[in-house]
Amino acid sequence: MEQKRSSFTGKIGFILAAAGSAVGLGNIWRFPYLAAQYGGGIFLLTYIILAVTFGFTLMTAEIALGRKTGLSAIGAFKALDKRFGFVGYLAAIVPMIILPYYSVIGGWVTKYFAVFVSGDGVAAAQDGYFSGFISKIGEPIFWFFLYIAATALIVFFGVEKGIEKVSKLMMPVLVVLSIFIAIYTMFIPGALDGVIYYIKPEFDNFSIKTVLAAMGQLFYSMSLAMGIMITYGSYMKKEISIETSVHNIEFFDTGVAFFAGLMIVPAVFAFSGGNAEAINAGPGLMFITLPKVFETMYGGQIIGAVFFLLVLFAALTSSISLMETVVSIFCDKFGWNRKLTCLIVFIGCLIIGLPSSLGNGVWSNITLLGMDFLSFFDFVSNSVIMPIVALLTCIFVGFVIKPKAIADEVALTGKFKSEKLFNVVIKYVAPVCILLILISSILDVVLVDGFF
Ligand code: PHE
Repeated sequence: MEQKRSSFTGKIGFILAAAGSAVGLGNIWRFPYLAAQYGGGIFLLTYIILAVTFGFTLMTAEIALGRKTGLSAIGAFKALDKRFGFVGYLAAIVPMIILPYYSVIGGWVTKYFAVFVSGDGVAAAQDGYFSGFISKIGEPIFWFFLYIAATALIVFFGVEKGIEKVSKLMMPVLVVLSIFIAIYTMFIPGALDGVIYYIKPEFDNFSIKTVLAAMGQLFYSMSLAMGIMITYGSYMKKEISIETSVHNIEFFDTGVAFFAGLMIVPAVFAFSGGNAEAINAGPGLMFITLPKVFETMYGGQIIGAVFFLLVLFAALTSSISLMETVVSIFCDKFGWNRKLTCLIVFIGCLIIGLPSSLGNGVWSNITLLGMDFLSFFDFVSNSVIMPIVALLTCIFVGFVIKPKAIADEVALTGKFKSEKLFNVVIKYVAPVCILLILISSILDVVLVDGFF
């Protein structure tokens, strides 16, 4: 079995591929708006604590599961214990939910790139531009279509490698540019209050929702609890250290998110005085705020175009990894031809993504549990299914195959330094916390909505 799987060429190859999947819209688009919405510094602190404990533990477990079995999620759970095969299936649903709405956002990024290239960036900085755009019918659908078609074509022709190569060059540039924009923003009058809000933990702002949002974001951002890291692990060579790789990916992923927040959250304060409505802008935050920053900048049109292009690449490597996963699930399960499957997944995504696009405009009166379609899909995957998959993974590793099975896999390349932390988190801390948070979040949504 293992012979047949191609593997990543070296440590760097593995880390970059996994980081390519991890770093995407989650870091640049999603993290900053959640940080703004859920209390700034306290969210950041919660996120970092979760990343080095839960994130580290789960990513280690998933990669080791994949490498140990040489299989992707569905096969890996089943191979180790028949009763847990369903966890693999549950995990497999997540990328199917995420990919369509991810592509809607990818479409927005493509649109903003086009706007800046065509020299219209100033228009994009006007109030109401973003809401005017997403509430239209045809235009967002056009960009969404373009984005998902680009993703599908790359997967269809199997040219991911080319994209990954380009992206490897672009990611460091994105980091440098984000740091530059963040520093620039800090000097805009009023931004300093935003820097303080973003960095200084205010315990008054803490609530169980902070933890839930941070946890969902962690899974999303690190591509956890959806089987993807298991698949990546199955391609990983035995002589590469899982522990070091996980630390690297985690560091990189969190670093990009941190700077994205530092670039966007203070800008909200600079341009709207940090009023509640602006802070709670949600999914539109990046699109509303950054054009205003670029507008004040010398050469802002070009910098804006470069920025959105880099974000587009970060998004593409992630949506490619999402689509790859979905395609291979169908191919493996039903023995379908790969190209035909690509086509089917493409069409499926288009159909499922449409409500997420229309939900910002003509269909905004239709809500599910009080949410528009996009927020609903985001909620179901990040705040419901992923925590459940994570919880089951913890139980599976902690009590069925036992943490030792993972520790042995990790120790193939030398001592597993954080073994104690790993054991405690996977057996006790993570399952208990995830369960509590899951229950409270579901009750919250259901009760608030008068579901009962
Ligand atoms: N981790 C990616 C991001 O932060 C999203 C993603 C999730 C990509 C799952 C692939 C798989 O944008």
